[in-house]
Amino acid sequence: MQQHSTLGEFIIENQKQFKYSSGELSRLINSIRLAAKVVNHEVNKAGLVDILGTAGDTNIQGEDQQKLDVYANTIFMETLTNRQIVCGIASEEEDDFVTISGNDQTNNNKYVVLIDPLDGSSNIDVNVSVGTIFSIYRRITNPGTPVELKDFLQEGNKQVAAGYIVYGTSTMLVFTTGHGVNGFTLNPAIGTFYLSHPDMTFPKDGTIYSINEGNYVHFPQGVKDYLKYCQMEEGDRPYTSRYIGSLVSDFHRNMIKGGIYIYPTSSKAPKGKLRLLYECNPIAFLAEQAGGKASDGYRRILDIKPTELHQRVPFFCGSINMVDVAENFMKNYP
Ligand code: AHG
Ligand code: MN
Ligand code: MN
Ligand code: MN
Repeated sequence: MQQHSTLGEFIIENQKQFKYSSGELSRLINSIRLAAKVVNHEVNKAGLVDILGTAGDTNIQGEDQQKLDVYANTIFMETLTNRQIVCGIASEEEDDFVTISGNDQTNNNKYVVLIDPLDGSSNIDVNVSVGTIFSIYRRITNPGTPVELKDFLQEGNKQVAAGYIVYGTSTMLVFTTGHGVNGFTLNPAIGTFYLSHPDMTFPKDGTIYSINEGNYVHFPQGVKDYLKYCQMEEGDRPYTSRYIGSLVSDFHRNMIKGGIYIYPTSSKAPKGKLRLLYECNPIAFLAEQAGGKASDGYRRILDIKPTELHQRVPFFCGSINMVDVAENFMKNYP
């Protein structure tokens, strides 16, 4: 077997990219690594233990919470809280952001984390890949004071780090600190993440499009026209349609093979479905760091100024040339 460095070694060897060298960011990534292993363990037992199905509650998004949504949320919240390395957390599954106060009721930590603890909930019960998405910012209010909403409502271009875990045929942790994208695969026998995908890059072109085409009649005309273009016989088209229904997994595949993911506005979801802070911003940061592109159809995702925690946004993300073409179709209907 090829000898890869471990995630722990990678962090030590690349200390410079974990800027603000107090070690806080390294500790934060280490905590996410730990929580990921715990969630991975539970995801892999699903079906054997009582973790499938709905939890019986509805979250702030209006979605039925699955037991694994609740479990993953608890594990990530507790891991980050107990280890006292962040000052605040916002989660898809929590109504409001959570302030972490230190042992002495103050908190000098610099970072806030925004998280989609379990992405692809509809796939849990059917043994299809799910994921976790995280986004990390430096707080803008003063350390030692409680965090405020504005610490969470920062533009995506202010992210210090972002990444995801995909619980797939193998479990991978993929992240960026703004110095490219690296992917680590978990060896479950020994519980260690190894650098298996150094410096991941999006092919500039691709032949995969990923969209929930069942909603076609509800799509804006620009998206309908682009889909017809994808299906037309010309050059390397028609493209292949692939849609898992877990953003993390769809994005991961497209980043490796080349493709575009679209979750547009629709007459059913006038603002789109995906959440700017927990899903689109971290994935957009990764996309750009890998040489891809992410837009809302008209403008760069990372430049959108968030106005609310659970804000939704249309999402076009993938190989740069494919997103450019999709945007050109959208321009016809400003
Ligand atoms: P979550 O499970 O975190 O609520 O996210 C679901 C998101 C995303 O992962 C996926 O791409 C999309 O919703 C699927 O939506 P549709 O079922 O409407 O296609
Ligand atoms: Mn959800
Ligand atoms: Mn999600
Ligand atoms: Mn989720």
